[in-house]
Amino acid sequence: MEKVILITGASSGIGKETAKLFQAKNWKVAATMRKPEEHADLSRIADVECFRLDVTDVDSIRSAFAEVLEKFGRVDAVVNNAGYGLLGPFEAASDEQIERQFQTNLFGLMNVCREVIPHFREQKRGTIVNISSLSGRSAIPFSSLYSATKYAVEGFSESMSYELEKFGIRVKLIEPGPINTEFYGRSEEIARKKDLTVYDERLDAFLAFMRKGGKAAPDGSIVAEVIYNAVTDGSKRLRYPVNTKGVLFLRSVLPEAVFRGLVKKIFLRG
Ligand SMILES: NC(=O)c1ccc[n+]([C@@H]2O[C@H](COP(=O)([O-])OP(=O)(O)OC[C@H]3O[C@@H](n4cnc5c(N)ncnc54)[C@H](OP(=O)(O)O)[C@@H]3O)[C@@H](O)[C@H]2O)c1
Repeated sequence: MEKVILITGASSGIGKETAKLFQAKNWKVAATMRKPEEHADLSRIADVECFRLDVTDVDSIRSAFAEVLEKFGRVDAVVNNAGYGLLGPFEAASDEQIERQFQTNLFGLMNVCREVIPHFREQKRGTIVNISSLSGRSAIPFSSLYSATKYAVEGFSESMSYELEKFGIRVKLIEPGPINTEFYGRSEEIARKKDLTVYDERLDAFLAFMRKGGKAAPDGSIVAEVIYNAVTDGSKRLRYPVNTKGVLFLRSVLPEAVFRGLVKKIFLRG
C-alpha cells in the first residue's frame, strides 16, 4: 500500500523539496501551505495534492487533516516544517513579532501534533518529523527568539518521543545548519526599532554574514534526503543534524569559554 505524508509549509524551501522527494519515492503527498492557489506547480505533480493549512489557525489544521484523510484514507508521516526566523536584538522585538514567532514555530507545530497523534495512536504507527535547527542546539547572537522556539521544539519532541514510543509512534528531530531557501529571503523577519540604533552596526554585519552564508549553502534537497531517511530507516533515533559544519562536535569537545569566544569572533564583527 502506498504511504501518505503530510508536510506543512510545503510552498517553498525544505518543505517543497521534501514533497518532491517523497513523491519521487512513490509516496502520496499532502503538501499543505497557506496559499495553495499560488502553488499550482506542485499540485500538477501526480500523487501530490495541495491543501490549505496555516499552522497558526487551528481550524485550518483540523479541516486540512480531515480533507487529507478523506482524499488518501490515512496518514503515515507528518513533517512539521512551517517556520521562519525572527532575527535581531531581543529588546527591539515587538509583542506581535514575538507572538507570531512562537505561534508559528512552536504552538503551530504543537497544534499539528495534537491533531495527528490520536490518528497515529489508533493505527498503532506513524512518524512525526519536527524541523528544528542547529539554533535549537547551539545559540548565536541576534537569534534569541528564533532559538527559543527551536530549543522548545527540541525539548517538546524529546519528551514526547518517550510517551509515544509505546504506541508505535516515532518522533524525529531534524537539525539543519544553513540551507539556501527563502529563510534568508522573503521569510526573514528583522526586529529593529528606529530609536534603538546601538545594535545597528553589529546587526548589519551579522545579517550580511548570515545572508551570504545562506546563499552559499546547499539547497533544501539535502534536508529532504535526511527527512526521507529519518522516516524510513526504521530506527528509534531521535536527532538528525544536517550541514551543521562541525558546530555540534566543537561544542561537545571545546571548553565552553573557548567555544563562546569562537561564536563571538564569527558572528559579532561590527
Ligand atoms: N534555511 C535554513 O537555513 C534553516 C536552518 C534550520 C532550520 N530551518 C527551518 O526549516 C523550516 C523551513 O524553512 P525553509 O528554510 O525551507 O524556509 P522557507 O523557504 O522560507 O520556507 C518556510 C515555509 O514555512 C511556511 N510558513 C510560514 N509561516 C507559516 C504558517 N503560519 N503556516 C503555514 N506555513 C507557514 C512558508 O509559507 P509561505 O510560502 O506561505 O510564506 C514557507 O513555505 C523552518 O522551520 C526553519 O526554521 C531552516
